[in-house]
Amino acid sequence: MEKVKDVVFRILRYSPEDGKPTWSEYEVPVIKGMTVLQGLFHIKETQDPTLSFRASCRMGVCGSCAMKVNGKHILACQTQILKLHADVLNVEPLSNYNVIKDLVPDLFPMFEKHATVKPYIIRYSDPEEFNDPTGEYLQLPDELEEYLQFSYCIKCGACVSACPVVSGDEDFLGPQALTQAYRYAVDTRDEGYIVDRDVVSDIVSGVFRCHFVGACSDACPKGVDPGMALQLLKKELFLNSFGLKRKKKTAGFHRIDFNAPPPPDAPKPPPKTVEG
Ligand code: SF4
Ligand code: FES
Repeated sequence: MEKVKDVVFRILRYSPEDGKPTWSEYEVPVIKGMTVLQGLFHIKETQDPTLSFRASCRMGVCGSCAMKVNGKHILACQTQILKLHADVLNVEPLSNYNVIKDLVPDLFPMFEKHATVKPYIIRYSDPEEFNDPTGEYLQLPDELEEYLQFSYCIKCGACVSACPVVSGDEDFLGPQALTQAYRYAVDTRDEGYIVDRDVVSDIVSGVFRCHFVGACSDACPKGVDPGMALQLLKKELFLNSFGLKRKKKTAGFHRIDFNAPPPPDAPKPPPKTVEG
């Protein structure tokens, strides 16, 4: 495909050996549809093999390639260079994390905070069902809607990078973890609610440290809207503290005989493409 124009990538480089971040410039011949990630691969393959960045799925699913371009948070794999309408791209790693090298931030603190809010379904009435399932929990579409949007989080870390509270207070749990606390607390299959996720109300690190700036929602490339999740979480905690806990519906249960033959009208499985 024909080159449309040359675009300069100004990349903030850092290596632990040198210690000090410095800008480096590379010219990239851009073709129609080329993404920022493809531009970075072009530089690595043709100009500087030492350039480091993180990517895996290349389709906006794994969350590995979040970075800042011209001050805006993006996923490099789903952002087309020409759609940025700029001749120079200032490419930087996410903020509010230590940088391992170049565009590779250390996301470990985000994952640690994520784990503290118990981001999974807690069951008390039938814990054995999780180890040895005998059926499925039932959920109505409007019960799913309560948390569906928040379950689209791919843990890219952009919201944490954009959050001004995290930048001034590294103890704050941050928008990613707190959004997931809300996501599980309102799931009708969960029996833990916010009571068993008590870290979310911690006075030093919990959700009331959020000033509702909304930068997290602007930064999120998946439309999760963590800012809204945190406001809904505050509401849940507020009602709960006054004994007005919303009566949460409990998911029904449907037992399945896994050994039963499929019903006669069940769709047939597709034919095998490879024998054996
Ligand atoms: S909420 Fe959005 S920005 Fe934050 S980690 Fe999840 S996908 Fe990324
Ligand atoms: S490489 Fe997976 S989201 Fe970009």
